[in-house]
Amino acid sequence: MKALFRKVDSYERLSQLAALEIKKKIQKGNQVNLGLPTGGTPIGMYKELVNDSQLDWWNVSTFNLDEYIEISIDHPESYQNFMNRNLFDHIDIDKFNIWFPHLVNDYDGMIDGLGGLDLTILGIGSNGHIAFNEPNSPFDSKTRIVDLDEQTIEDNARFFNSIDEVPTKAITMGLDTIMKSKEILLIAQGKKKLDIIQKAMFGDITEEIPASILQNHENLTILYCE
Ligand code: PGA
Repeated sequence: MKALFRKVDSYERLSQLAALEIKKKIQKGNQVNLGLPTGGTPIGMYKELVNDSQLDWWNVSTFNLDEYIEISIDHPESYQNFMNRNLFDHIDIDKFNIWFPHLVNDYDGMIDGLGGLDLTILGIGSNGHIAFNEPNSPFDSKTRIVDLDEQTIEDNARFFNSIDEVPTKAITMGLDTIMKSKEILLIAQGKKKLDIIQKAMFGDITEEIPASILQNHENLTILYCE
């Protein structure tokens, strides 16, 4: 494993550093394909990107990791809506370069055809999921519809009025697609996440902990704060 683990002293610093990795890719000026997450952790990173009015998005295509499938995209908690609210509505990106898995028949083929993901930002679920690849997802999985794990439904209930409103199904990029990303940056905050990161990075590589596959990635950085 060649992962770089970096603990920083604040969420603000984590957000700045994560945004910096994205900025560096964009500023090289070549076409760049970004894999992007939703959830609580990346909100600060998106804020940092939005606040950089000099950043030119003309050469960027984005591929979101996942989307709920039982709620309308107009629902405030749909991931498309989340992304518009936190990033896309505030930056000068060509709307034709914004992609979600539910919008494309062959998401994996499309990403491959465009040269693959250059940098993918990931969160990690308290059960070890990455994107919505829940425990026991096959390591060779592609984009597909999945049932959400009980733990994920509980964890995500904080974004809804009640746990009954949390969708039980989603469409997610698969582990195979994520692993093909040239670079991966995993961001995580809180003690609960440290436990699962330790299991995933130093324990057995097992489908029971989907994030453990990241041990096999050649260019992985983990940014963590308490
Ligand atoms: P969080 O979610 O950023 O809201 O903790 C991460 C995840 O579940 O992938």
